Amino acid sequence: MVLAALFAICMQGLFATLDDNQPTWTMENSLIGVNPGLGFRPISPRTEEGSLIWYNITNQTTINKWVKLADEFLKPYKEPQTGENFVNCNFDKPPGPNQVCITSVNQLGNCHPSKKYGFNSSSPCVFLKLNRIYGWKPDFYTTPLEDMPDGLKQHIKTRQGEEKKQIWVTCNGINDFDKENIRGFNYHPRGFASYYYPYKNPKNYLSPIIGVEIVNITHKSSESVP
Ligand SMILES: *[C@@H]1O[C@H](CO)[C@@H](O)[C@H](O)[C@H]1NC(C)=O
Ligand SMILES: *[C@@H]1O[C@H](CO)[C@@H](O)[C@H](O)[C@H]1NC(C)=O
Ligand SMILES: *[C@@H]1O[C@H](CO)[C@@H](O)[C@H](O)[C@H]1NC(C)=O
Ligand SMILES: *[C@@H]1O[C@H](CO)[C@@H](O)[C@H](O)[C@H]1NC(C)=O
Repeated sequence: MVLAALFAICMQGLFATLDDNQPTWTMENSLIGVNPGLGFRPISPRTEEGSLIWYNITNQTTINKWVKLADEFLKPYKEPQTGENFVNCNFDKPPGPNQVCITSVNQLGNCHPSKKYGFNSSSPCVFLKLNRIYGWKPDFYTTPLEDMPDGLKQHIKTRQGEEKKQIWVTCNGINDFDKENIRGFNYHPRGFASYYYPYKNPKNYLSPIIGVEIVNITHKSSESVP
């Protein structure tokens, strides 16, 4: 029997900064701040539970709760994205004006709906998403920073050309107890790709998402933002 409890997914380091060359911010933007906030799902609708995610792996009711919440969140990503202004994007082929990138659940690996987002196992997933800011254009860390985790440094080094242009995120347990009880994190995909930016509010736009798989939680664990 495993009881897995998570407190707030971590976002230690959102490795992106603002482009200084952008024209002045609108009032709306300055209220949000210079960088978009990073949010995660699923979150319990019961506010007293805060951002805690917990389930008992031997009790299907507690699993289904999170699966259902994730289902709702990912609904637009599960719908067919064909025709209209949808295009397949990659780093060498960004969308044209008024086109949007197909952003499907198929890039979610072990965080795929068919795998119950990992909630039917000891490696559940949470989904990260950046808030939209009109016109926001990230600067990318295309070479590793000293304080990035080794795995990420390696990942960046081995990307080719345009593929280095991603907003990298990394997660950590908040304390030693967590670190002992979590094997690590897998990211599906590893970053938010450059071709989603700048956001100009085209019709049908879907924000990129990252499924973070929290690998083999052995017991109660928590993660948070430092
Ligand atoms: C998990 O659920 C099982 C039965 O479904 C129950 O026996 C057990 O006590 C529960 N564990 C916790 C920690 O709530
Ligand atoms: C499973 O969890 C639900 C919700 O917490 C609870 O109402 C139910 O009694 C639990 N079932 C078992 C078999 O423990
Ligand atoms: C959840 O996992 C259990 C044990 O691995 C399996 O028997 C069950 O079919 C799975 N349920 C779903 C809905 O995938
Ligand atoms: C996680 O647990 C599964 C099942 O117990 C095991 O097969 C797998 O090797 C583990 N992964 C890691 C990274 O420890």
